[in-house]
Amino acid sequence: MAQRPCRHRSRRLSEDFKIRAGGAGDHAWVRDLGRRTVSSSVSALRDPSPSTVGDSFDRLVDFAFGQSHVLLVAEDGLERLGFVLFLDRLLDEVTGLPQAFVVYVAVEPHARRRGAGRRLMAAAESEARKRDLAYASFMVTEENDAARELYAQLGYQTERRQLCKRL
Ligand SMILES: CC(C)(COP(=O)(O)OP(=O)(O)OC[C@H]1O[C@@H](n2cnc3c(N)ncnc32)[C@H](O)[C@@H]1OP(=O)(O)O)[C@@H](O)C(=O)NCCC(=O)NCCS
Repeated sequence: MAQRPCRHRSRRLSEDFKIRAGGAGDHAWVRDLGRRTVSSSVSALRDPSPSTVGDSFDRLVDFAFGQSHVLLVAEDGLERLGFVLFLDRLLDEVTGLPQAFVVYVAVEPHARRRGAGRRLMAAAESEARKRDLAYASFMVTEENDAARELYAQLGYQTERRQLCKRL
């Protein structure tokens, strides 16, 4: 039986794809991509305005940029396709050990399903290992299917659950 072509799998990352360390020159773009994508992290239980969500994202990255962090940027040629931002000295509250705490990962909408997100997360893990961090950890919204699939594929497991109830 003839199989239908799978559109996203036929698009590959180019040979120019690379992941590099990010810096202050990337911060405005990180904020912009974050603000454009962060709505996928809003759960169905909350009902904030888009500007509130964007402002919350700005506060989150301000917090991260204000302390020890690692920013990695995925590029194809000169075009930035995505980033991962993690804290590298945040102590796990149970073990007291520093861990890689992923603040956010995002890929430009037009560049998704080509492996950039997976490569960014793998690069973050590699940087974390270089820093002798034993764990990578983060939060993900229940309804964020794309992110949850990505993390499951990379071997992440649910450690705790954040409960919420409308009052
Ligand atoms: C989550 C995100 C970073 C994934 O980036 P990406 O470059 O598209 O991911 P990849 O192409 O590396 O996908 C790797 C795997 O993740 C899963 N995945 C990614 N997108 C998916 C989707 N839309 N639906 C289902 N599974 C998906 C698949 O298992 C995929 O493997 P496959 O393509 O071989 O099936 C991207 O969707 C994004 O930027 N989302 C908005 C921001 C966000 O939600 N960030 C996470 C905050 S916790």
